[in-house]
Amino acid sequence: MRMRRKKHGAERIAACSEILIPSPITEQTNPQSFFADEKPVCLEIGCGKGDFAVGMSAKHQDLNFIAMERVADVACLALEKAMAASDTRADNLRFIIADARNLTEFFLPHSFDRIYLNFSDPWPKKGYAKRRLTHRGFLELYRSLLVEGGLLILKTDNEGLFDFSLEEFEAMGLTIEWQTRDLHNSEAAADNVMTEYESHFSEIGQVIYSARVRF
Ligand SMILES: C[S@@+](CC[C@H](N)C(=O)[O-])C[C@H]1O[C@@H](n2cnc3c(N)ncnc32)[C@H](O)[C@@H]1O
Repeated sequence: MRMRRKKHGAERIAACSEILIPSPITEQTNPQSFFADEKPVCLEIGCGKGDFAVGMSAKHQDLNFIAMERVADVACLALEKAMAASDTRADNLRFIIADARNLTEFFLPHSFDRIYLNFSDPWPKKGYAKRRLTHRGFLELYRSLLVEGGLLILKTDNEGLFDFSLEEFEAMGLTIEWQTRDLHNSEAAADNVMTEYESHFSEIGQVIYSARVRF
């Protein structure tokens, strides 16, 4: 996602500090500690401009959500969207501007119930496979973050990334509980909360792939 540098980006991000977890976190922390109410915590990695995180946190007030984005200018738009929605949302959404590679430095082991990966960068060149967020190196990291029986839920428009992900899940001995090659025409469509990329791809007629995997 290429972005022009945001004017007054630092000030705009600072104006959203009440929903921003300061990063880097210097010691492994329980993600529950960022919320007033103790509820299962879900993590979205690569939240982009925040449609999914804002929509899911409003819809599922029995869950807490942390949305992670490594590009500050993109996270700024997500933060502002969440702040604008704040009179209708419960206090169950926080953001962190950081790279997923550092997750285990920030959070206690086995402290998340679910991880969402939405339209992750596909890194199609073979030499870059390790950068894909469903590469087994990342799956090992998710295993240490998720509770026993925790879920990874994936959506993508990219068939190559989807097939690669299924192979990685199987290689790691994970249970693929559910999968579809056409999410919007599946039984899960009614409950689905769209991301920005998803809205765009579905408008141009692209099918959406999805899988739910249990650790
Ligand atoms: C293709 S965009 C999809 C955005 C959004 N999830 C959607 O579906 O509209 C992928 C996003 O993931 C972020 N991202 C990629 N790798 C990441 C990482 N290792 N840690 C945190 N964010 C990452 C990128 O900066 C980008 O904003």
